[in-house]
Amino acid sequence: MDLSEQGALDGLTVRNRGVFRPVRTRLVEDGKPTDALATHLAARAAGGAGLVIGPAGMLVHPSASGPAFVDAYDDGSLPGLTSVADAIHAHDSHIIGQLTHTGAESRGDWEMQPQLAPASSPSDAAYEMPKQMTQADINSVLDGFATAANNLDRAGFDGVELAAGPFSVLRQFLSPRYNTRDDEYGGGWNDRARFVNEALSRVTDSVDGPVGLHLSLAELEYGGYEFDDIPDLLDSVEGFDYLSCTVGSYATYNQTHAGISASAPDLLDPITTATDLVDAPVIGRLPFTSVEDADALFDAGVDFVSFTRQLLADAETLSKAAASDRHNRCIQCNQKCLEGVYGHAHGGHVECVVNPRTGRETDLAALSAVDPTALPQRVLVIGGGPAGLRFASIAADRGHDVTLREASDSLGGQLGLAAEGPLEPFTRAAEDLEAAVSDADVKVELNSPVSGDTVDSSWDTVVVATGATRPDVSTYDFEGEVVNAFDVLEGASVGDDVLLFDENRWIITVQTGLTLLDMGSTVEMVSSDHYPAFRTEQPNLPGFVAALQAQGAEFTGNHTVDAVSADGTVTLRNTLTGETMTREPDTVVVAGRRHADEDLYLELAELRDDVYRIGDAISPRKLDRAYYDGEQLARRL
Ligand SMILES: Cc1cc2nc3c(=O)[nH]c(=O)nc-3n(C[C@H](O)[C@H](O)[C@H](O)COP(=O)(O)O)c2cc1C
Ligand code: SF4
Repeated sequence: MDLSEQGALDGLTVRNRGVFRPVRTRLVEDGKPTDALATHLAARAAGGAGLVIGPAGMLVHPSASGPAFVDAYDDGSLPGLTSVADAIHAHDSHIIGQLTHTGAESRGDWEMQPQLAPASSPSDAAYEMPKQMTQADINSVLDGFATAANNLDRAGFDGVELAAGPFSVLRQFLSPRYNTRDDEYGGGWNDRARFVNEALSRVTDSVDGPVGLHLSLAELEYGGYEFDDIPDLLDSVEGFDYLSCTVGSYATYNQTHAGISASAPDLLDPITTATDLVDAPVIGRLPFTSVEDADALFDAGVDFVSFTRQLLADAETLSKAAASDRHNRCIQCNQKCLEGVYGHAHGGHVECVVNPRTGRETDLAALSAVDPTALPQRVLVIGGGPAGLRFASIAADRGHDVTLREASDSLGGQLGLAAEGPLEPFTRAAEDLEAAVSDADVKVELNSPVSGDTVDSSWDTVVVATGATRPDVSTYDFEGEVVNAFDVLEGASVGDDVLLFDENRWIITVQTGLTLLDMGSTVEMVSSDHYPAFRTEQPNLPGFVAALQAQGAEFTGNHTVDAVSADGTVTLRNTLTGETMTREPDTVVVAGRRHADEDLYLELAELRDDVYRIGDAISPRKLDRAYYDGEQLARRL
């Protein structure tokens, strides 16, 4: 079997076997889908997904509400839902809507409701004490499933999927950890599955198309059901037309999406077990699914393969794969997709580090559809880091004559240093950026440092992408010696007992801490934030903290380093109380902040008008801004 082969899903003939799985996007207003959401999903259908499952996590009842969700139970959502269905059908793809009630894994306060759940068993990832559903609550939520499903049917959706993965009252009913009821909805597997089976039955009665079940094969939570329970789990649920496999709960969500911070569970064996037991089509995925994984999943017996982040990273992945063309790869960073929806960037929406169009599909055309320039220019790009590379390839694709000069002997800039340890998947970004520059016939000149006086008037446009300088630890004015974290990452030696001062507050601190621990040092990580690397994206933080603590790192939060004396004594000050204490480590390592490498830009800006700067040369930021700046300038030039 292969991805481009036609498939069948309970009477639905799907043009291929590549599925775009649900993503909560926050492209929602007042509980209704927006045009931006329809365009976002349609971009994946246009890019080759035969089946789109989404919008994700649409709500069936007002007691499960929140700003990120579509209220599918509300008739007012019908026009938006109809637009979504039409947008997908326009590309000859099918669309199945996903319904959920979040139960104990969200909040009730959005709609002045108690948090309805199987029992008063709170999630470790939420803060409210849930209310055990009464029979009247159960009946009302089941009615909600039927109403919401019927709304999807009326809007033209081809089917409905019930979510029993993370953020789902259905999974919570199945779970011995969340469902401690002693009535007919609690107890053994068959009783705990009663609510799920009733929901499946009510939805089946409300729609014409297939009704699927998106099911966590294990919760991976203490007290929850595990992979060993798959036979009992699958024996207990009935009445679905297809099974879609996932893993985890809200509390173990960082294992649902294998990222740079958490070890991912093996899913291939559990899925093989599931396909043996289920007499219906199965949609399979791995903790991260790339196009290359499809064969292993088909061998495990699945009928369709679902992709999520890969299709956020390149919406045209499936059509490019079918044509054997190169596609850009997801780097599993979770820094803009999950972080955009769930993280510190609360109030944002889904985005992607390596694909600035994601979440902005109504504003930005697909790169493959961007017009060539009407006025080709000779463009000099200075700097071969991510911003310079992204700009250069797109500008050249648009017809500009682009030369890129890089001072060092290789491309990639600080990506090379970043793509170590947990950030190893970032190597894909460096490789894909370089491949795009090569495909676009950019003239690349390595070992070519540029100074202001060597930039002559033959260039129509100059783009400065010189990046950022390393942190300068001498600016701390300490008497004693300190070591730069960047030097540690490049192999500098340190003593047995290290104090790592976290001024970076982000991933450099994590990488340095892990490197020091690997070198065999004991490490105390001191941060003026609540704990080290606190500004790391929320989806990545628990995994990083776990990795550091598992190897014995000690955290001292809310402290700054006031002094390092000549004999190496370190004075720490509590930033909240002002109290001080001392430490005597063998080595002090400082993970500092970087500065924009902007001198060349400032010099050139004095000499000419047609000079721009992009990426870290404006201000050192995360990788997404390098892609964004480079791409935006290239689209406009
Ligand atoms: C930003 C984001 C939001 C998601 N929201 C949902 C959701 O609401 N419902 C759901 O079933 N899965 C959701 N997922 C999980 C994905 O459907 C998928 O299972 C997961 O990303 C792992 O697959 P991948 O490695 O192909 O990305 C979400 C994933 C991302 C990245
Ligand atoms: S933000 Fe990172 S993890 Fe998310 S889709 Fe983009 S590259 Fe993948």
